[in-house]
Amino acid sequence: MSDPLTVQWFPGHMAKTERQIKAQLALVDAVAEIVDARIPVSSRNPDLDRILQRKPRLILLNKCDMADEVATAEWIAYYSSGRIPAIPVDCKSGKGIAKFSAAVKDLLSDTLAANRAKGLVGKPLRVMVVGIPNVGKSTFINRIAGNTRAKTENRPGVTRTNQWYTVDRELELLDTPGVLWPKFDDKTVGEHLAFTGAVKDSILDIEGLAVHLCALLAAEYPNALPERYGIEVTEDGYETLLAIGARRGFRIKGGEIDVTRAANTVLDEFRSGALGRITLERRNG
Ligand code: G4P
Repeated sequence: MSDPLTVQWFPGHMAKTERQIKAQLALVDAVAEIVDARIPVSSRNPDLDRILQRKPRLILLNKCDMADEVATAEWIAYYSSGRIPAIPVDCKSGKGIAKFSAAVKDLLSDTLAANRAKGLVGKPLRVMVVGIPNVGKSTFINRIAGNTRAKTENRPGVTRTNQWYTVDRELELLDTPGVLWPKFDDKTVGEHLAFTGAVKDSILDIEGLAVHLCALLAAEYPNALPERYGIEVTEDGYETLLAIGARRGFRIKGGEIDVTRAANTVLDEFRSGALGRITLERRNG
C-alpha cells in the first residue's frame, strides 16, 4: 500500500510551495497552521517549522467534533507548553472560532504595541493561514471572514494572486500561497491520511486500508466497532471486516461476504464520525 501513497509525493512540489510561502512571509505578522485534530502529526508538513523560522505561530486543531476530547486537550497542553497557542475548532459548525481573533491579538501584543508607538493605530494584523489539502482551510476562512475577499490592487508588494480576507478592521488573513503537501515519509503517515480521507480513495487498496483501521480501532478504541456494528472484534482486522459484512448482510453472488463493501462502509463511517470521536495520534504515544 505504500507505493500508491508515495507517488503523490514529489519533493519538487514542496520546493515550489516553500518558495511561495517564504516570499509572502514578510507580508504577515503571524501564521495560523490548521491541522486535523484526529491526526495532528500526519496532517502537518514538518518542513514548515524550518520554513516559518521565527514567525509567531498559532495552531488550530480542526475537526475537533470528530476527535477524542481527551486527546485534543492533551495536544493543546503540549503546544501550550512549547508556547504555541492552540485552539480546538470545528469549522463546520463554527465552534471555537470566536476565540481566534483574541488569540491572534494576544500572540501579537508586542506588534500591536509597536504599531501604536509608531502611530499606526488602525493597521490591521495580518495572518497567513496554512494547512495541507482537505484540512479545512476554506471552511475556516469562509466561517471567519465570509465573503470578504479583500482587494489587492493598491497594496505595495502584494501580488494579485494573493488571496486576502478581512475578518474585521484589525485582522486580515492570507490564504496559503501554493499547496502545502503532507509529507509521506513513512507508511503510518500515509495510512493515517488515507483513513481520514485526505488521500484520494481511487488510488488506494481499500480492503487493506480497512483491515488496518479495524485492527487499530480494536487496539485503541475497542468499543467503537462493537457499538456500531454489534460484533466482537479481534486484532485480526480481516476477520472484523468479515463480521461487519455478515452483520450488515453484504453478500456477493454465491453468498460470499462482500468484503469490499464492508471495507468502504467502515472507512466512510470512520470519516463521517459515525464510529465516534476518535483520535489516531495521541500526544503520549
Ligand atoms: P481545504 O480548504 O483545506 O482543502 O479543506 P476544506 O475547507 O475544503 O474542507 C475539507 C472537508 O473537511 C470538507 O468536507 C469540509 O466540510 C470538512 N471540514 C472542514 N472543517 C471541518 C470540521 O471542523 N469538522 C468536520 N466534521 N468537517 C470539516 P467535504 O466533504 O469535502 O465537503 P462538504 O460536503 O462538507 O461541503
